[in-house]
Formats: sequence, structure tokens, C-alpha cells
Amino acid sequence: MEEIYKFAVQIAYKAGEALMHFFHKPHQIGYKGDINLVTEADLETEKLIKEAISSRYPQHSILAEESGLKKGQTAEVKWIVDPLDGTTNFAHGLPWFCVSIAVENQGELVIGAIYNPVLKEMFTALKGKGAFLNDQRISVSKNDKLIKSLIATGFPYDVQQRPEPIMTRFYKMILKARGIRRIGSAALDLCYVACGRFDGFWEERLKPWDTAAGALIVKEAGGKVSDFEGNPYSIYGKEILATNGFLHSNMLKVLKEAKEGAYDEKN
Ligand code: IPD
Ligand code: CA
Ligand code: CA
Repeated sequence: MEEIYKFAVQIAYKAGEALMHFFHKPHQIGYKGDINLVTEADLETEKLIKEAISSRYPQHSILAEESGLKKGQTAEVKWIVDPLDGTTNFAHGLPWFCVSIAVENQGELVIGAIYNPVLKEMFTALKGKGAFLNDQRISVSKNDKLIKSLIATGFPYDVQQRPEPIMTRFYKMILKARGIRRIGSAALDLCYVACGRFDGFWEERLKPWDTAAGALIVKEAGGKVSDFEGNPYSIYGKEILATNGFLHSNMLKVLKEAKEGAYDEKN
């Protein structure tokens, strides 16, 4: 896996450079939904990443956001790619976007590489070997008080059709935390939990390519990842709660009680 890991990091750098090339030019914006954008950078960068993987490892499968699943001869290794996480930020000239590349081996996440080319921050993890930011080991925060925590969330693209229960969770959570950020890139949200900038993150209806690399990076940095009930997290599931571990039960409690609409604000 070491060799595939090095290669994944290399491609993430190259893809990041490609994103920067597009970032400084006018964008061609297409619509996948009313508020769900796709640019030339998403499509071209995905093409570049897939070509690089296929020429080195033609037998591997690739699941990529814009083109779906390309089945390899062996189902053993699957790459999971978001060529541009944070497309809305990218289209508006904001610097919080990244490329996210993960590898699953026999259904288990083993490699994650997330690169923000504006800030030149490369977050990586190899299963069992820890998590890193620009080759320096990172770990989650030790904060165990929600009122002293900076947490993050995001909103799915169908939030206008289905504002509940998303807004209730947000409302309940903001009453309990020091602050909430919505930076517009789930992959970076997870990296920021991993390196202790954020203490926790929750979102629903994310896709495998949004969270695959980030979930591994959080775990390898000592954090905890689950669904909103506290069950083990699956990148194919609908909900993610990622925390430093210390805040996990507290944030779960808020999420659960928001679901029941019965959170006692004195708790
Ligand atoms: C989106 C971002 C955003 C999250 C959305 C995702 P995209 O990915 O991660 O933060 O709130 O749910 O779909 O479309 O920019 O790749
Ligand atoms: Ca994404
Ligand atoms: Ca994307």
C-alpha cells in the first residue's frame, strides 16, 4: 500500500496544480441542480486524475464524482475521487477548496490525500500509520466542552426543498457551541477536525467522494467518526459526525434530541 499511497499524494499535488490553473481564469459554470454547480475545473481535473490512475493501475476500480464508477478487473482496490470539493467556493473566488483522493482495499479505507492548493496544505493518512499535514503528524484537539468548541457543518444541495431537520440541528447546535463554521468543503472540514482547528463536524447526505479520504484522516489523527445514532460510519451512509472523540457523545446527544425536537436547552 505504501507505493499506492505515495502515488495518491503525487496525483493530489498534480490535480491541485490543475485546479489553480483554472482558478485564476473565468469559469464555465454548468448546473447539476438549482444550487449545485459544476465547472470546467471539476471535469478536466477528474479526467486528469482518472487517466493518471488508469495508466499506472489499469486493474483498479475508480469511483469519481462527475463520471461515476469505472470497474476494474479486480474489485479489490477502489479509488474514490472528488476532483474539486468546494466547487461553489471555487466559482466565487474563495480559497477553501481541495482535491480529495481515497483508496479502499477490500472495502476498507486505507489511503486518504486531500490537497488545498491555495494554502498549499496536503493532508494525508495511511491506515495504521497516522495522519499528516505537509508531512508533520497531526492529531485532534483535546477539548471536551461544547461551549468551548468551534464546530462545523454543511448543507446538502436539496436543503431548500427539505430545510427540516437540517435547520433544527443547526439551531440546537449553535445554542451549545462557541461557534459554527460552514466553510463549504466537507473534505476540508474533516481535515480541520483532524488537525484540531475544528473540534467537531456534522453533515447529512454527503457522498462517498466527499468523506472517504477525510474520514480516514480524522480516524488516523485520533478522532471518532459515526452516524447520527453513534453507529460506525460508512462512506455510503447518509450521515456523518466526526469529532475529537471527547465531544462525541455530547454532539450525538444534541443531534438525537434535535431529531426528536425535544432538546432541553438547560442540558
Ligand atoms: C460539497 C461540499 C460542501 C457540502 C456539500 C458537498 P462539492 O461538495 O463538500 O461543503 O456542504 O454537501 O456536496 O459539490 O463542492 O464537491
Ligand atoms: Ca464534494
Ligand atoms: Ca466535487
